[in-house]
Amino acid sequence: MMKPFVSVICSFCFVIAAAGISPAADEGNERKGKYMFRSNCRVCHKDGASAPALNPNSKTQAQWERAFEKYERLDCAEEWNKLSEQDRKDILTYLTKYAFDSPSPATCE
Ligand code: HEC
Repeated sequence: MMKPFVSVICSFCFVIAAAGISPAADEGNERKGKYMFRSNCRVCHKDGASAPALNPNSKTQAQWERAFEKYERLDCAEEWNKLSEQDRKDILTYLTKYAFDSPSPATCE
């Protein structure tokens, strides 16, 4: 009775391992996110440019999450659409890690 059950579990684990799916892989890459934010968002979102300056510490983690969930509503949605979903995930990971209410709030300088 026990044996088939165990082997189902084992093959399930094997499939997951083979596909390279792990909880960590689901999270964005913070370093890439920083690079993407600086090269794709800061072009406009910095002092002296066309839009209000934005840094990770400009918003709380919840505010960033909301902005990313509803980015289609932003004036610059067209710019966001140029990025891949993974790029946006990386940027969000970076921004929330250094958000205003994070343990280490920071600018992106
Ligand atoms: C071509 C210039 C441009 C680019 C590139 C751009 N934005 Fe914007 N963004 C704007 C403008 C203009 C507004 C409207 C500003 C306002 O409401 O005063 C805006 C609004 C926003 C807002 C809402 C206003 C606020 O301060 O909360 C957020 C959040 C935002 N952008 C984030 C981003 C992020 C993240 C990226 C990169 C993925 C990005 N933007 C790329 C020009 C840009």
